Amino acid sequence: MVDIEDYKGREQAYVKHVLLEQYLEALVHKTASAYPHIVYVDGFAGPWQSANENHEDTSFGIALRALRTAKAAWKSNGRDVKMTAILIEKSPTAFKELEKLPPKFPDVQIIPQKGDFVVLVPTILSKIPKDAFSFFLLDPKGWRIPLNTLQPLLARPNSEVLFNFMFEFINRAASINDPAVVTGLNELLPSGDWRQRLNQAATSDQRKEVLIDAFTKCILQAGNFKHVCETTILRPARDRPLYSLFYGTRHDRGLEVFRDCQVKALEAQAATRAATKVDQAEAKSRQTEMFGSLHEMAENEASTFLESEKSKAREALATLAPEKANPILYKDLWPLVLAKHVVRLTTVNQLAAQLRKDNVLHFPDWEPRRRVPQPNYRCCRKEKETL
Ligand SMILES: C[S@@+](CC[C@H](N)C(=O)[O-])C[C@H]1O[C@@H](n2cnc3c(N)ncnc32)[C@H](O)[C@@H]1O
Repeated sequence: MVDIEDYKGREQAYVKHVLLEQYLEALVHKTASAYPHIVYVDGFAGPWQSANENHEDTSFGIALRALRTAKAAWKSNGRDVKMTAILIEKSPTAFKELEKLPPKFPDVQIIPQKGDFVVLVPTILSKIPKDAFSFFLLDPKGWRIPLNTLQPLLARPNSEVLFNFMFEFINRAASINDPAVVTGLNELLPSGDWRQRLNQAATSDQRKEVLIDAFTKCILQAGNFKHVCETTILRPARDRPLYSLFYGTRHDRGLEVFRDCQVKALEAQAATRAATKVDQAEAKSRQTEMFGSLHEMAENEASTFLESEKSKAREALATLAPEKANPILYKDLWPLVLAKHVVRLTTVNQLAAQLRKDNVLHFPDWEPRRRVPQPNYRCCRKEKETL
């Protein structure tokens, strides 16, 4: 497990790595049950600001552990799954570290690749066999990435992506008129009327909404994904978004697992931000005992957000359920809710059961003693009885 001790002064990377670790462990294990070969691609691998001598605090370190663990688990069940990690890095110094990895992981095929990820897209694609499932981590330091160049990679079938959109820099860049900056951003966000909408945005929250919505649509389109969802990583000691992690998948099950991991990462973020704020306040005043309440307050940041997402999910369930004449199967309804809101499937199941009790939703196939809806249950809005 990633250890917060390795992330002093860069707690935002800890939150990103909690999410990556949780999700990769689940994803690699699950996909290895169906595919003979799993390929992890780290487009901007580093190592970068790593404090751990075994690089356990890096994205590729986390991925190699996930690949190794899943491989061993399946091997003990008599199933041999090939695991590959393609690690791309531009900096010669960092690349030297990547070259040392293969002997340390004899059970995983590691392909270190030196160069510019954007230029290497066709080479990388040619190294991924057709029968493999692939996961792309794109975690650049900046934002000058022409999305159209990545399109063939994002559109690869049997693939998922996690893209780090450097929100703070991009938001700032979006107010700059320099032609090179304007062109660069237009290449990252090649479609939509986001510039117009940004001009009309009055608050920082509205600006964020416009940029997140624009990039969600660009990624959905480029990768032909079914779902794209965003996780905001905040500055550790300030209430400001630093970056946005965009996850793209073509599977409802991927969305389900991702939301579980996202909730855990947001809880980890609330806890680390609370601790960071307390440390900084203490260091300023040297009065320890005053700050217990600050700790509690900040730690509730995740529950406040998740509670509000839960109530929006309840509303969405009630609104998205169709009229009686055209019922929807529950397995097609819950992904619509999870795609919009940061909520776990278990929570949506409970909400659906409660809405049934409250006479808002109707499930004609509900069996006795069932506590939550089953995937093949039909669902519709309960018709108001006329007097
Ligand atoms: C933010 S760091 C990656 C951190 C890593 N994903 C992690 O979480 O541990 C970005 C890395 O990308 C490298 N880099 C920057 N531009 C690149 C490019 N065009 N192609 C490949 N690597 C690049 C940098 O040298 C740096 O090591």
